[in-house]
Amino acid sequence: MTCQKIDGKKIAEELRAAIKKRTEARIARGQSKPGLAVILVGENPASEVYVRNKCNACDEVGFYSLSKSFPYGVTEEELLTLIDDLNKNSAINGILVQLPLPDHIDEEKIIEAIDPLKDVDGFHPYNIGRLALRMPVLRSCTPKGIMTLLKSTNIALEGKEAVVIGVSNIVGRPVSLELLMAKCTVTTCHSRTVDVEAHVKRADIVIAAVGIPGFVKGSWIKPGAIVIDVGINRLDTGKLAGDVDYEAASKNASWITPVPGGVGPMTIASLLENTLQAAELQNH
Ligand code: GUN
Repeated sequence: MTCQKIDGKKIAEELRAAIKKRTEARIARGQSKPGLAVILVGENPASEVYVRNKCNACDEVGFYSLSKSFPYGVTEEELLTLIDDLNKNSAINGILVQLPLPDHIDEEKIIEAIDPLKDVDGFHPYNIGRLALRMPVLRSCTPKGIMTLLKSTNIALEGKEAVVIGVSNIVGRPVSLELLMAKCTVTTCHSRTVDVEAHVKRADIVIAAVGIPGFVKGSWIKPGAIVIDVGINRLDTGKLAGDVDYEAASKNASWITPVPGGVGPMTIASLLENTLQAAELQNH
């Protein structure tokens, strides 16, 4: 079986170029620049990099962006006050609170305070509920990016056996809902699943979002399966590794995403798509 690489970096670049064009057309029509506010709490180095990359991506496509950083000890009230201001600010179409938040902050309360039409992360119960009911509005960025990658293979998804490993609110759950909406037969595996290997072995589509390097073995992959690796794990050597044993899995898969350069770049591209969509929904 010859295995093809799904080039997330290239697909994300094409998406960003298309968003830039649509933004220029908006501005030429006299409409506002889409605006994104990014909120960062504490000093998590990975979160700082993500936030910087998100703001740079906004600049590159011609969006307005605003980043607000708070020390670790910020109170819930301070964050809720800022979100309330941003909800009312017509220059801001999207609000993103970088996760995780410190333990003394109730993450759900913060997410629920965001206007659902400005929830460009797609984490608000309104947006997750809409997705569950097959009428999505703003869709979670990484799952949306994964669906774009699957679509790029031109393989029909209807009726396929999809196995998702991971149940986080950010990836596992919403991507399971996306695959269900695409008419796959979906199995979602988690830490109490008795035999993950047996599930993966019958999957036409494998989505690995566990956070353990090399968790999915090459021998688990059914010949011809599509493998999407969401893992970004930093090894002791400093190298990045996915949740899938890439070399061994490529011997069986028909399509596979690399790490880095697969799912990672799609998350920011989807965030830009969502911010533009939010600006259009808000009609200014
Ligand atoms: N932390 C890890 N992934 C994400 C994401 O997609 N959005 C936000 N806001 N925080 C994250």
